[in-house]
Amino acid sequence: MSIKTASLIRQIDISRRQRENMTNTSEFQRKTGIILALDVTDEASALEVTSEVAGLVDAVKIGYPLVLGTGLSIVSKLSKYAPVIADFKVADIPNTDRLICEHVFKAGCAAVIVQGFTGPDSLAECVKTANEFGGKVFVVSEMSHPGGDHFFTDSVSKEIAALAKKSGAFGIVAPATRPERVKELRTVIGDDLKIISPGVGAQGGSAADTIKAGADFVIVGRSIYNAENPRDEAMKVKVEIEKLI
Ligand code: C5P
Repeated sequence: MSIKTASLIRQIDISRRQRENMTNTSEFQRKTGIILALDVTDEASALEVTSEVAGLVDAVKIGYPLVLGTGLSIVSKLSKYAPVIADFKVADIPNTDRLICEHVFKAGCAAVIVQGFTGPDSLAECVKTANEFGGKVFVVSEMSHPGGDHFFTDSVSKEIAALAKKSGAFGIVAPATRPERVKELRTVIGDDLKIISPGVGAQGGSAADTIKAGADFVIVGRSIYNAENPRDEAMKVKVEIEKLI
């Protein structure tokens, strides 16, 4: 057996064992339509807020603030309550993207958020790596803050959304602060991909308007985790979404 073949077999075996060790957190079932953006920076607060809103959120999105504060070991602790999405907005060359995504999924994340402006090869590598672990990829099509449409213009956002679809991504990220953009981007991707939308609450977006525009999930951070009673706040968003049905 050649060295190349032996190394390939070893890699496949490692991937298989990694998959076997993973908890089944890759299920994105929409029950409430809420994803918690957990941008607290310490483990105690992260676990406290997440346990309070457990059952009211369909997933927990974490990013650099929490992971730099606690390390990736926080993922397995949060996964007991809900699937975890790693919002690292991965944006690099394919090899580096793969190395980042491998860490994300080995840690037990159900999904990763990546940038799409890096192009088809980078995006393809993220999707391929996610598939190896049974994970999902969401692609940022447009940012939600006021300056978010400075570079992500109409045509750029639409091109990124189309590329996300072509690359086999599970969904895109579209701004709840601009529901009309959610609507436009939905027409680009059709019904096969999910839309997750940040910007509800602290950034001024409305959960109802965002879902009406075509989002599957709204992402809510500060207005839940900074509330005196995070569960009550999450419940308010849940009821707001339920009224649409
Ligand atoms: O606290 P707030 O509800 O504004 O949190 C929104 C979350 O969504 C943050 O974690 C932010 O980094 C993220 N996000 C966003 N806009 C995007 C992509 C991600 O606000 N386009």
